[in-house]
Amino acid sequence: MTIEPQPNDNCMTKEEAKKRIDALCEELQEHNYRYYVLAQPSISDYEFDQKLKELEALEAQYPEFVRPDSPTRRVGGEPTREFPTVRHKHPMLSLSNSYSLEEIREFDARVRKSVGKEAEYVCELKYDGLAISLTYENGLLTQAVTRGDGVQGDDVTQNVKTVRSIPLRLRGDFTPELEIRGEILMPRAEFERLNREREEIGNAPFANPRNAAAGSLKMQDPKEVTKRKLDAFLYYIPHELPGIKTHYDALKKAKSWGLKTSDNMAICRNMAQIMEYINDWDKGRQHLPYDIDGIVIKVNDLALQQQLGYTAKNPRWAIAYKFKAEQAETILESIDYQVGRTGAITPVANLRPVLLAGTTVKRASLHNADIIAQLDVRIGDTVYVEKGGEIIPKIVGINFDKRPAGAQPVQFIDRCPKCGTPLVRQEGEAAHYCPNEDDCPPQIKGKLEHFISRKAMNIDSLGEGKIEILYDHGLVKNIADLYDLTYDRIFGLEKVIPAENGKKEKRISFREKTAENIIRGIEQSKNVPFPRVLYALGIRYVGETVAKKLAVYFKNIDNLMAASFDELIAVEEIGEKIAESVIRFFQKPAHHEIVERLKAHGVQMQLEKKTEAVPALLQDKSFVVSGVFERHSRNEIKELIERYGGKNVSSISSKTDYVLAGANMGPAKKQKAEKLGVPIISEKEFEEMIRR
Ligand code: IVH
Repeated sequence: MTIEPQPNDNCMTKEEAKKRIDALCEELQEHNYRYYVLAQPSISDYEFDQKLKELEALEAQYPEFVRPDSPTRRVGGEPTREFPTVRHKHPMLSLSNSYSLEEIREFDARVRKSVGKEAEYVCELKYDGLAISLTYENGLLTQAVTRGDGVQGDDVTQNVKTVRSIPLRLRGDFTPELEIRGEILMPRAEFERLNREREEIGNAPFANPRNAAAGSLKMQDPKEVTKRKLDAFLYYIPHELPGIKTHYDALKKAKSWGLKTSDNMAICRNMAQIMEYINDWDKGRQHLPYDIDGIVIKVNDLALQQQLGYTAKNPRWAIAYKFKAEQAETILESIDYQVGRTGAITPVANLRPVLLAGTTVKRASLHNADIIAQLDVRIGDTVYVEKGGEIIPKIVGINFDKRPAGAQPVQFIDRCPKCGTPLVRQEGEAAHYCPNEDDCPPQIKGKLEHFISRKAMNIDSLGEGKIEILYDHGLVKNIADLYDLTYDRIFGLEKVIPAENGKKEKRISFREKTAENIIRGIEQSKNVPFPRVLYALGIRYVGETVAKKLAVYFKNIDNLMAASFDELIAVEEIGEKIAESVIRFFQKPAHHEIVERLKAHGVQMQLEKKTEAVPALLQDKSFVVSGVFERHSRNEIKELIERYGGKNVSSISSKTDYVLAGANMGPAKKQKAEKLGVPIISEKEFEEMIRR
């Protein structure tokens, strides 16, 4: 079903536009709530986007009707240089931590002694993110402040507004003044996606989802924060609510106002129930899509909370139980060195197999030479391995008492284990590299695998195993060789993978269908557009986004190959590291030859005609487009502005260069433009501006 956007131009009166804006706001808020808070969406993403676009268009035309709680405001904030410091109305205390069930028992005993009776508790997950305090005034989100030092924190309202599970406006019978605390976090899957993206463009990865969430909230441009899919859970209201007597009911009330609270809270009436909750979640946490680092136990009765009071740092009515990261002790038997697609060398520890958190661990990453030196780990050492938030276990320490006599410090290899080339280590980088990028087998195979991958040339009839067969038979040594393959050359090739670890022998062979599919897949890849081809070349630090930027800017591979360092860094978001890498790549005659061969085979080495360069006649000029035009639709006008280097902005300010007015431009806009002295131009005048 296609939803046609409602008419939003001249055929609508001002009142109708206001009504439509209000209706769309309400409707989109409801869908956001269903999607992000209840996880029960009732329309498709496409329909949602259509409605959002309609609202955006209407708001651009009638800025006077933009509501502060409009769903479009989630990304509308301007970049901030600094986050103002704000004093918390109620100090943001932390919880006292405990690491043993004994300490929880003592806590319960203290509570019972102090209040003179059994207490009822609420057990909750302890989210491993970043504490935040939200203020709602008359139902509108007005402020979001980080914990800071507990007394004052940073105002990060604009960034927090991009978190979809945080409502901009409350629903139901909300209280006029509300402060609610919670945790902003990054789901693990998003954390992994973000780190992959960062590594692609040469940025250091975040160590864990908490750091990634914290880094995201402190970004200066809310539009960038929107791209990071942050989530939030709210768990504490630091003031009274009329008629509410327990913490549990307070959170239920908050939930009824559209705030995202946890579905995993439990009321526990005795220690046995608390223990059960702790044990269940210690095991169950690995199945959650985000990290928790413990359990929080809170006295449920708010009057009892008051009675128990606070120490200088912590409430006396709550305690955190922190999970122990599961550790195991085992022996480091040897170190392997793996060579990645880019030539980066990763040392991997081979461990005597040991059971850890339900799986047998045999290997652990040692990351790089610095980490090995820091740990001072030696072959034969008894090491502690831990499974943190990360999937791959790591070595966190050494039992020096068990070090075998004569154990020597690890000598990091100085030659590539696969091709023997001396390794290099660039200044400021932790990893060693094998520089033999075109002749080192794992690098060749890695580059071929990258080339055929989905986001690159998407040749899905080939895969890791098949690439290996082609390579082993000497048929492909670089990506251009793929295009010399023919049915006859590959038909009948095979590889036998011997039986191992109880698995049967496996035979991969290129029969008729397989061979046909491979050749067809390679042929079809000639239609892949230039930006993806550029990404597929596997230039270090040229990930998908960078490839797109370079392709759009330089238009074809010849321009890019001829570009100087200065020309490269002039491109938006292209820094020195990327520029150097591009230059280094194209300095090699072998790479020129590959490019020429790909070109000769018909692989796309330039942008399609329709997006070809036009002079930047409107460079950096900002336009507000309003009304209806004779020869172009409003969208066409906006596209033209961008094609010629200009910018579309939604509302008129003193910084706007032109208001491009069609028929029936709203009078408010006209007045504003006149007042600020912004020139109002017609469609015809605009056409003159872009005439070459
Ligand atoms: S309650 C006055 N509940 O843990 C008590 N905190 O050191 C307010 N945290 O700073 C905190 N999950 O960032 C509470 N379910 C939960 C929590 C939680 C995570 C964090 C919070 C706090 C820290 C305690």
